[in-house]
Amino acid sequence: MKKILVKASKSYEVTVGCGILNLAGAKLAALLPPPHHLMLVSDDNVAPLYAARVKSALEDAGYTVDTFIFAAGEASKTTDTLVSLWEAMAAAGLTRTDCAVALGGGVVGDITGFAAATYLRGIACYQIPTSLLAMVDSSVGGKTAVDLPQGKNLCGAFAQPIGVLCDTDVLKTLPEAVFTDGCAEVIKYGYIGDRPLLSLLENSFADNPVSIIARCVEDKRDVVERDELDNGPRQLLNLGHTGGHAIEKLSHFSISHGNAVAIGMLMAAKAAVAMGLCDPEVPAHQEALLKRYGLPTVCPFEAGAIAKAALSDKKRRGSTITLVIPTALGASTLLPLATDQLADFFRQGGAQ
Ligand code: GLY
Repeated sequence: MKKILVKASKSYEVTVGCGILNLAGAKLAALLPPPHHLMLVSDDNVAPLYAARVKSALEDAGYTVDTFIFAAGEASKTTDTLVSLWEAMAAAGLTRTDCAVALGGGVVGDITGFAAATYLRGIACYQIPTSLLAMVDSSVGGKTAVDLPQGKNLCGAFAQPIGVLCDTDVLKTLPEAVFTDGCAEVIKYGYIGDRPLLSLLENSFADNPVSIIARCVEDKRDVVERDELDNGPRQLLNLGHTGGHAIEKLSHFSISHGNAVAIGMLMAAKAAVAMGLCDPEVPAHQEALLKRYGLPTVCPFEAGAIAKAALSDKKRRGSTITLVIPTALGASTLLPLATDQLADFFRQGGAQ
């Protein structure tokens, strides 16, 4: 078992281990001594597998537990679901000293975090991520949100959880495509700034899930501690995401997030080499590693269309857009680019 301390505006521990779901009650009790009222939030994919176990662990620790289950998927990450969750918290009588517990992937974590950040002007939230992406990214760092019809994550708040519990055993029930998608975010940390992680990833993920996930959490912790509110170095976490979000959008979300980020990462590496800003060994290394983890590497869209879609994204600031490029194996930097040069960037990255 590994424990990672995140020292943000509020400090908290991320625990990563194998078969530790039953520790949820004891872990939370150490932070928020019972009795308290909890709202356990999950979706209809995860709840049948794990909600009863987690509920029992929490009740055995002395909590009163209500549950709120919604339909799995990004389509549920709406203000409607948020309002229903707020109303469920109010109907259950949760007070300022009570707590929401998110059991699920990124959608569950983001919406539960936002509901907790805003219900009664803020109650505690404990995160139990069940997807690889949520373990290595969305459950840590305090970004919470819901989508609006105009775009993803347009309404949200920074609100750190009081703790995070990652049980790598639950990854065994993830659909393969969802696991592969999360691998793109794992690989991303290596190219942002963690060369030893790239070496670790040359073995099978299954050989070392706890070490690999803990290492990603440490990498995320390092940037969040430097830039909790995402005004500088935290933007490094967007490696592959400017192109990736555009590809997701252009595909009408038939290309999943991780698959799109994989393509976006490789485009950023190829463009950076073409601009003389990156060691030429990086793209070939990336391409081999992405393929090894079953991720795509070829961009199916045209550079101008990707640039247009990217410029409607919230990461744009005025007439420049901040991109992330690798500079060497295990090193990256932010690159502010004039928006009118973005199509060329993606062309240099291999898009038509
Ligand atoms: N997922 C990117 C971030 O937390 O900043």
